[in-house]
Amino acid sequence: MMRIIFATNNEGKMNEIRDILDGMDIELLSLKDAGIDIDIKEDGETFEENAIIKAETVCRMTGEVVLADDSGLEVDYLNKAPGVYSSRFLGEKTPYSVKNKYILDQLKDVEGEKRSARFVCVIACSFPDGRTVTRKGVLEGYISKEIRGTNGFGYDPIFYVPEYNCTTAEMPTSDLKNKISHRAKALEAIKEVLLEHMAQRKSREAKHEDSNSK
Ligand code: IMP
Repeated sequence: MMRIIFATNNEGKMNEIRDILDGMDIELLSLKDAGIDIDIKEDGETFEENAIIKAETVCRMTGEVVLADDSGLEVDYLNKAPGVYSSRFLGEKTPYSVKNKYILDQLKDVEGEKRSARFVCVIACSFPDGRTVTRKGVLEGYISKEIRGTNGFGYDPIFYVPEYNCTTAEMPTSDLKNKISHRAKALEAIKEVLLEHMAQRKSREAKHEDSNSK
């Protein structure tokens, strides 16, 4: 069984990834499960950089395969802000009701396509041999005209998804959002990377056994 650390202590994220990797021969650990207590400085300028910083730091510490994610909201009219600063936007402790209202105010006179926005998630996977790969998931949408819905978290009440005619905070179940979300798409893509890695490892082990038996 392959051990993988997901560099987070967020139980919601752990459950999401457990669902997606279900059935694979993997033991998945959070930072806490792996006995790691660190606060990694996310000082990259892109989602990729931040995810890589986290995955490589924990991979160097442990010698295990490590996954790490970074995500946020890009609003086109605001030059893709808040982007990598999504949680720090207007201050880490500022309630999302204030952050969301601020974005709505900024887009007060903006109409239609110009309200385009997206949730982005990048997951990095670092291997003990020094390789790191990243995969990106995106959920396209628009900034709504008003705060709508009470499900979800963060910027969900202002993120309108035309296909479902509601904000991500109005989606009836978290199952639906978890199916279409930026994080789900990035996780599905990283699953392919892990499957390939496991297949290569198996074939190397088979070759090794074969040469030992000669
Ligand atoms: P993290 O990198 O997953 O911790 O996300 C950083 C920040 O991006 C969060 O604190 C939220 O502000 C925002 N964010 C990321 N994903 C979502 C989402 O699915 N809904 C609402 N806000 C999100």
